Amino acid sequence: MPTEFKNRDIISITDLSKSDILHILKVAEDLKKKPRPDLLKGNIMASCFFENSTRTRLSFETAMLRLGGNVTGFSNADVTSIKKGETLYDTIKIIGQYVDVIALRHPLEGAAKLASEATDKPIINGGDGANQHPTQTLLDLFTIRECQKKLTDLKIALVGDLKYGRTVHSLAQALVHFGVRLYLIAPNVLQMPNHILDTLKLSGIKFSMHENMESIINKVDIIYMTRIQEERFTDKIEYERLKDSFILKTEHLKKVQNSMRIMHPLPRVNEISPDVDKTKHAYYFEQAKNGLFVRQAILGLLLGKLN
Ligand code: CP
Repeated sequence: MPTEFKNRDIISITDLSKSDILHILKVAEDLKKKPRPDLLKGNIMASCFFENSTRTRLSFETAMLRLGGNVTGFSNADVTSIKKGETLYDTIKIIGQYVDVIALRHPLEGAAKLASEATDKPIINGGDGANQHPTQTLLDLFTIRECQKKLTDLKIALVGDLKYGRTVHSLAQALVHFGVRLYLIAPNVLQMPNHILDTLKLSGIKFSMHENMESIINKVDIIYMTRIQEERFTDKIEYERLKDSFILKTEHLKKVQNSMRIMHPLPRVNEISPDVDKTKHAYYFEQAKNGLFVRQAILGLLLGKLN
């Protein structure tokens, strides 16, 4: 049984049990089939984005608006009193007195946890540094199930920047619930952090680490490409060396499984050649669209309007 959602924070994907995750996906599926334009009438979400975003911010805001709710907030901390020296804690404490729910993105790991200590209103982590991006994982799982008709017994390759990519941290931690086979494909210096590898080992799921994708991609059901996270590098020369480590091109797709689908949390820079978009394997734009329904489900559940 899923735990009560009303007033919960979603800081890490590990805050959610398998049944919580499956329940959110079910509610999102219902909302995708049947819109609920008045569900959140009278509710207000603060959209507090201290770091750039297109999909997460706009899909949260659109989710709220399409459910009949309202949105306030900012997409640039420079317009807030943070600029005058106010702390994140005080900022969130104040905003929590105005609104019903807060979606937060921040460049520092742990910022969402700190925010949750400042207010009783639900905090939804829209990405904290290189740490976690739990709502991205929920839309990723929704999308995997949508395109593969199941979440179990799948072979999934996570490719790119597994060190700094918060989406793959959350996703790997969630996939342990579903008995998948994972291939972690990254340059050695950008491999998955040890604490996530420890979770995978403890869970007993099969996984292996690789530096090349060519030998793997013909046997997987999902290739999950990621961007090399330039903004997390302190050494720009190192970024330049690694930035084009993996570029997926149509020529790589000649022997892949017919049903294989390519995902990417986006934005992409150079990791997927644009001509791949026209192939039947490309599923990243549908993936981004699903963010709307999954974030609607999360808002409806945390605000106690869905159960
Ligand atoms: N996937 C994702 O988090 O995209 P944005 O950075 O545009 O929100």
